[in-house]
Amino acid sequence: MAKILIVYSTTDGHTLRICECLRGLVEAQGHQVTLVPVAEAADAALERYDKIVVGASIRYGKHRPAVVDFMNRNAALLNRKPSAFFSVNVVARKPEKNRPETNPYVRKLLRRMAWQPREVAVFAGKIDYPRYDSLDRMVIRFIMLLTGGPTDPKSVVEFTDWRQVEAFGSLIAGM
Ligand SMILES: Cc1cc2nc3c(=O)[nH]c(=O)nc-3n(C[C@H](O)[C@H](O)[C@H](O)COP(=O)(O)O)c2cc1C
Repeated sequence: MAKILIVYSTTDGHTLRICECLRGLVEAQGHQVTLVPVAEAADAALERYDKIVVGASIRYGKHRPAVVDFMNRNAALLNRKPSAFFSVNVVARKPEKNRPETNPYVRKLLRRMAWQPREVAVFAGKIDYPRYDSLDRMVIRFIMLLTGGPTDPKSVVEFTDWRQVEAFGSLIAGM
C-alpha cells in the first residue's frame, strides 16, 4: 500500500471533482490517498508520502501562481518521488490539443519547470456560464465564439473524458 498525496488548485471545483474521482480509483486499488488544496499543502509534510500528484486548472492562460510556486519550491523533492501532474483546461476539448505534448499550457509549464513529473495528463474541463460573474461570462463567451465552443449563457458543458481520468488513475496507482 502506498501513501499518495494529491494536491489541487481549483477555482470552480472541477479539478477537485477530477481529484475525487482519482482518489476513488486509486483507493480501490488498495492505496491510501490524502487530498489537499494547494494552500494547505504544508511543504514539510511532503516527505511522508510515497507518491505525489498535482492537479491544476487554467484561468486566463495560466495555472494559478500558488500552484506554480508550490511545484517550483518543491521541485527537488518531487523529482525524487514517483510523481504526476495534470492540467484542466477547455482548450483540451480539441482533439489536437488534448495530450500533454500538444496542449499549449502543459508544454509551456513543463518547459519552464525544474520538476519533471513521471506521468502527465491533460483533461478537458467544464464551462459553467451561470456560475461565472458577468465579466468572466462575457470573456469566455467571446473566446468560445472565436474557437467554436458553446456560447449560450445558460449552458453548462462538461468536456471531461472520464475514461481518460480512469486511465490516469491506473497510472498513478502503478507508478
Ligand atoms: C474566468 C475563466 C478563465 C478561463 N481561462 C481559460 C483559458 O485561458 N484557457 C483554457 O483552456 N480554459 C480556460 N478556462 C476554462 C477552465 O480551465 C475550465 O473551466 C476548468 O474546468 C476550470 O477548472 P476549475 O473549476 O478546477 O477551476 C477559463 C475559465 C474561466 C471561468
